[in-house]
Amino acid sequence: MKIAITGKGGVGKTTIASLLAHSWAKTGYKVLAIDSDPVSSLAGALGFHHPDRIIPLSEMSDLIEERTGAKPGAIGQMFRLNPKVEDLPDKIACQHDNIKLIVMGGVKTGGSGCACPESALIKALIRHLLLESNERVIIDMEAGVEHLGRSTADAVHYMIAVVEPGLRSIQTAQRIKTLAQQIGIKNIVAVANKIKSSEDYQFILKYLDKIEIIGNLSWSESIANIDKFAINHKEAVESDLRLKQEVKTIIEHLERKDV
Ligand SMILES: Nc1ncnc2c1ncn2[C@@H]1O[C@H](COP(=O)(O)OP(=O)(O)OP(=O)(O)O)[C@@H](O)[C@H]1O
Ligand SMILES: [Mg+2]
Repeated sequence: MKIAITGKGGVGKTTIASLLAHSWAKTGYKVLAIDSDPVSSLAGALGFHHPDRIIPLSEMSDLIEERTGAKPGAIGQMFRLNPKVEDLPDKIACQHDNIKLIVMGGVKTGGSGCACPESALIKALIRHLLLESNERVIIDMEAGVEHLGRSTADAVHYMIAVVEPGLRSIQTAQRIKTLAQQIGIKNIVAVANKIKSSEDYQFILKYLDKIEIIGNLSWSESIANIDKFAINHKEAVESDLRLKQEVKTIIEHLERKDV
């Protein structure tokens, strides 16, 4: 099962990626979490010790040059678009609590269609992980489909657009759906997050167009306290029964598709 999580900034992508990762790890699955948001924060959310010491792939200059034939940041240089990546998961993944994590990092020249060696290496590695890994793969993405392409579309079983009760996040989800469909991703679904009342949920239902909502997460004091008290999502979910049930419902929905 491979899942990409996307949505507007601050909507709860990393939170949901982390909750799903913990939940699957707890039930005995091997989980591979990929942080492909340029502003990496998944390591901390997953409870990795010293997340600041994890070097993102985009900053491994020697490795990028070795694999692509060009230095990172180099524009206009020739570089390999299909670098060797098969051995990279073992080399660069970190492990904590049954969860493996690979942090991709930011690509300075950003934007879709970025042609630089680090972006080529990240894309090739994500492609490899999506096509070859037999783990539960969860990708925490920025708002968009960068790093995914037509060749990986079939391997993404679900793309989850996280929405909150606000038009901006809903508009972002609709835009993501269009982009995702353009590259051939089929199952684009939504998770409604930070729900404080039934009106919040109704608001999302009213404005979200043709994207199935597979579950919702209430606004949770224990999630809000994560930043405040520097705890992680595993601890938060253990202390909040409603949250636990809501995560379970999302997982059950995802698992209805036997992949
Ligand atoms: N259900 C929730 N209840 C309360 N707070 C929440 C909930 N979901 C997320 N948050 C809080 O909202 C903030 C943003 O969440 P998170 O970092 O997961 O979003 P994101 O989409 O990954 O953000 P970014 O775009 O910056 O990567 C965090 O402080 C998080 O603790
Ligand atoms: Mg995030």
